[in-house]
Amino acid sequence: MLGELREKARARLDPVHWDYFEGGAGAETALAENLRAFARLALLPRVLRGAGPPDLAVRLPGAPAAGPVFVAPTAFHTLAHPEGERATARAAAAADAVMVTSMAATTAVADVAAAAREVRADAAVWFQMYLQPRAGVTEALVRRAEQAGCTALVVTADSPVFGRHSRDDRNDFHRLPPGHVTQNMLGLPGAPPGRPLDIAMSPELSWADLRRLRAATGLPVWVKGVLHPADARLAADEGAAGVIVSNHGGRQLDAVPAAVEALPAVAEAVGGRIPVLLDGGVRSGADVVAALALGAAAVGVGRPVLWGLAASGEAGVAQVLAELTGQARHVLTLCGARDCRDLTPDQVVPRGPEG
Ligand code: FNR
Repeated sequence: MLGELREKARARLDPVHWDYFEGGAGAETALAENLRAFARLALLPRVLRGAGPPDLAVRLPGAPAAGPVFVAPTAFHTLAHPEGERATARAAAAADAVMVTSMAATTAVADVAAAAREVRADAAVWFQMYLQPRAGVTEALVRRAEQAGCTALVVTADSPVFGRHSRDDRNDFHRLPPGHVTQNMLGLPGAPPGRPLDIAMSPELSWADLRRLRAATGLPVWVKGVLHPADARLAADEGAAGVIVSNHGGRQLDAVPAAVEALPAVAEAVGGRIPVLLDGGVRSGADVVAALALGAAAVGVGRPVLWGLAASGEAGVAQVLAELTGQARHVLTLCGARDCRDLTPDQVVPRGPEG
């Protein structure tokens, strides 16, 4: 089913935008590895545990009752569908999925959150941001997210510079076409009147900047893009609400391992002090369950949501989330699990070199 939506999306999208959504950095090795790493994993079910139907609810800082699959932050949803992030947010809210809306969204965070709340008053919308080096910009974005009613912030830390996407270079896709605007970047300190401020990446950011952000908000702050266990430990020491193990869907450093390969060491380093989430390459309920067993509290999906959105708007995103959650429920039942935490790392074993 996801494969069908993907093909429908490919047929509908401008090929340049398809390449933007699908592509990765460099030779796209990390992108491919995210999928191959899941294919190399097998699950060892437990039997006769009398577990009953599994409870799928997970509790996270900023989302007291959500499903185990969340919408990872991705930019430019209006390129996929005219209703853009509003459609994604409505589908996520209906599915009890946390929606992480990107700072580079083509819909303002207030409108994304309002769309989600039309569906469910307590829908969880989180705001993803890159800390901005220009004075006052980060603070202004935080205020917008707070005023919109976001329940957590996600700081993406794996982007000291922009990733180099070979497909976008080949297609010369480096700015949004007319009619699409990064709405969150309008009206910020230093923004040209009526035009968005360019999003800046800075290699000078440090844990001190995260500390400043934490001091400026009462919202839980997640750190996204953690792969090294030592960074996960630091994030916990620094009071992060949790970490998101991610290689940015293979769009930043191409030399990194698959996200799911980095997960066990991160989970071990954190030792339950803060929750660990994962995104990258999740395409089935078995992938969801493998990540949960290896220590993730919930898993994010990026491209599959964009496929659903491009294929049929809100209904397409709803289909993607329902499919993954439904499969996860079935696989959890087959594994004898009572809930998303009732799994252990020894229930994941390698399939062998050729998968
Ligand atoms: C992303 N991702 C991303 N991450 C982030 O923190 N801020 C962003 O604005 C974006 N934008 C973005 C655009 C597109 C087109 C893609 C595909 C990805 C990364 C995203 O949050 C997530 O880490 C990956 O997409 C997860 O991998 P899968 O599910 O796409 O394999």
